[in-house]
Amino acid sequence: MQKSIITTGKKRILKKGLYYITDERNNIQKYKPWLGDLLSFMYDRIMEKSIFPRKFGGNINQHIEILKKEFEEIHHQKIIEFATGSGNVEKFLLPDNHYIGSDISAGLLLIARKKLIDKGFRDFELYITDACQTPFAEHNFDMAICNLSLNFFSSIDSFIAELKRILKADGIFFCSVPIPEKKNPKVIIRGTLYSTQELKQKFENHGFEFIPLPYENGALLYFKAKLIS
Ligand SMILES: C[S@@+](CC[C@H](N)C(=O)[O-])C[C@H]1O[C@@H](n2cnc3c(N)ncnc32)[C@H](O)[C@@H]1O
Repeated sequence: MQKSIITTGKKRILKKGLYYITDERNNIQKYKPWLGDLLSFMYDRIMEKSIFPRKFGGNINQHIEILKKEFEEIHHQKIIEFATGSGNVEKFLLPDNHYIGSDISAGLLLIARKKLIDKGFRDFELYITDACQTPFAEHNFDMAICNLSLNFFSSIDSFIAELKRILKADGIFFCSVPIPEKKNPKVIIRGTLYSTQELKQKFENHGFEFIPLPYENGALLYFKAKLIS
């Protein structure tokens, strides 16, 4: 029998192709998205024209090339992405993987859903959930991804604990995130930024090996974290 993706005690409801999680009283868990669901259609343009060049001092095409290189040999894996956004994962992840996307924004996930279908993803599910407290069952995923979003999460320690809970024993996490030592000091980037050393310490505290990758793209650090079994 196939293992359930949802942990015991949680329920999911499918609406317009997205899974929502309900509490004990069957109320849907709701979140307040960063951009607001109504402005989701502007997201890709804001990232390309404003956030990448002005905030990160980096290049979005180079970002995608880095991700493509990292994921070009990944096939048939069960992969969770935290903070899927508008689904730019379709630009670098091969559609033969079993992909689970998640985000607090329904507006962005609806855009992601269309992109994934157009790209030929057949085996995917999208969930409205906070990355620090997901409904997923333990030791469920081969890989996890989080791009450009770690700084928004309310508690990085809760997030890493959640990551550890839902990854399989030899699971790998891939992440890109702005870091303070690489950013232009005159620029303000939203959320909480952690240095490479702080990230290393936090991941190691939770039993991960922390592996920085040698890419240069403005304020961004690219790294992997591997669960040490
Ligand atoms: C800058 S966007 C990055 C989106 C996507 N990963 C990408 O590379 O284009 C940040 C995303 O984080 C999501 N987000 C913010 N806080 C979150 C949380 N606590 N849990 C899950 N997603 C969150 C936002 O809704 C938004 O989609």
